[in-house]
Amino acid sequence: MSIQIGRSLSLFYIIFVFYAWAQCSLHTDCTSCTQDDGVLGIGSCCWNPSTSTCQATLLSGLCASGSTGVTYNCPTNPPSDFTYTDKFGRNYTLPFIASAYGDFNQAQVCLSNTVPDAQLIAVYNDSNNCSSVLALLPSQNTIVVAFRGTQGTTQFVITELNLILQGPLVPFPPGGNVFSYFSSCFLGIWNAGLGANLQSLKQANPDYGLWVFGHSLGAALASLTSTYAVYKNISNSNDVKLITTGQPRTGDLNYAIAHDSFIPHSYRLVNVADLVTKLPVKVNLDATNAFHHHFEIWYNQNMLIGANFKVCKQAEDSTCSSSTSLIQSLSYDYHNTYFNTSINTWFENGCI
Ligand SMILES: *[C@@H]1O[C@H](CO)[C@@H](O)[C@H](O)[C@H]1NC(C)=O
Ligand SMILES: *[C@@H]1O[C@H](CO)[C@@H](O)[C@H](O)[C@H]1NC(C)=O
Ligand SMILES: *[C@@H]1O[C@H](CO)[C@@H](O)[C@H](O)[C@H]1NC(C)=O
Ligand SMILES: *[C@@H]1O[C@H](CO)[C@@H](O)[C@H](O)[C@H]1NC(C)=O
Ligand SMILES: *[C@@H]1O[C@H](CO)[C@@H](O)[C@H](O)[C@H]1NC(C)=O
Repeated sequence: MSIQIGRSLSLFYIIFVFYAWAQCSLHTDCTSCTQDDGVLGIGSCCWNPSTSTCQATLLSGLCASGSTGVTYNCPTNPPSDFTYTDKFGRNYTLPFIASAYGDFNQAQVCLSNTVPDAQLIAVYNDSNNCSSVLALLPSQNTIVVAFRGTQGTTQFVITELNLILQGPLVPFPPGGNVFSYFSSCFLGIWNAGLGANLQSLKQANPDYGLWVFGHSLGAALASLTSTYAVYKNISNSNDVKLITTGQPRTGDLNYAIAHDSFIPHSYRLVNVADLVTKLPVKVNLDATNAFHHHFEIWYNQNMLIGANFKVCKQAEDSTCSSSTSLIQSLSYDYHNTYFNTSINTWFENGCI
């Protein structure tokens, strides 16, 4: 009797799988493909961007490598009204991030040697030793906030970040959930004066934009800060630019979705195989508990002046830095060398 039931169930299963295989192949676009959840959870569909085809999941229920079942992860073009350029990253993102590693005087020296018309307003820090700078950049009609990462060697940073990313996810008011350490650092800096001063600077300069930068841990904080500033109506979505280097996954899929809806002009720079950008390590890029947001800018050789980079269309893009091996990630200090500059020690000699 039970063998017969087993046989009937297997038969149903085979029919379902066949149905799913046939059904999935009917979809011709990523959105409808990834929204097809099959029948009774069996036979949902996966989109393969490189072949533009829709296929059923593997028998494991997961998508084959290189394809995705997450609608948010469908290929998307960056907004045409702000495309990332190497010059922008090198001339602005790098010096502001580097300045955030110093105290007020060091930050001022760093900026006066790199972005002479920047007016440093304040440096904030909190009990977690997270720190940020707030500045005005009149030539560009913008306010700038930049966050430093954790101090120390890359190994230390990675160990620490890995511990952080084992921690719980907590709700983030604009949407989704983020790693609790990032949330607590963000709130620490925001409440140490950044939030209030940002709001009053914006009120005094209503036509100014807002640029938010950060490296490593600071990249996660920059992501949260940009999102929160728009959520709090301090700036409009279209006036904000977020550019980070070496950003770990900051929150879950719903945070990534919320981030993109508030901050369309958002770029994450990855130097070759930077390990921190792979944290927490995901075997299955579709897993939703930790999800990158758009848009990865992958420098896949070096970051010398004029180096090529790839603009990645998927938030978790298996053709970008995720295609490098963990062994390669561990083989070189990609993390602290952005734009061919030691991003966390450059301030020590005035950013020259
Ligand atoms: C960007 O930096 C280069 C040198 O690195 C400099 O020649 C150029 O004038 C800078 N551009 C701007 C807009 O500051
Ligand atoms: C943190 O801020 C305090 C005062 O605001 C300052 O004295 C201290 O040097 C700062 N610490 C760091 C590590 O920047
Ligand atoms: C806090 O940051 C400063 C500046 O980066 C560093 O010198 C100091 O060692 C840090 N303190 C702790 C307790 O990590
Ligand atoms: C931001 O402004 C919108 C529209 O005016 C309003 O609905 C919303 O509640 C405001 N958000 C916050 C956090 O104040
Ligand atoms: C910058 O690039 C040069 C040439 O590839 C290399 O020798 C040097 O070590 C690099 N500097 C840093 C800080 O990565």
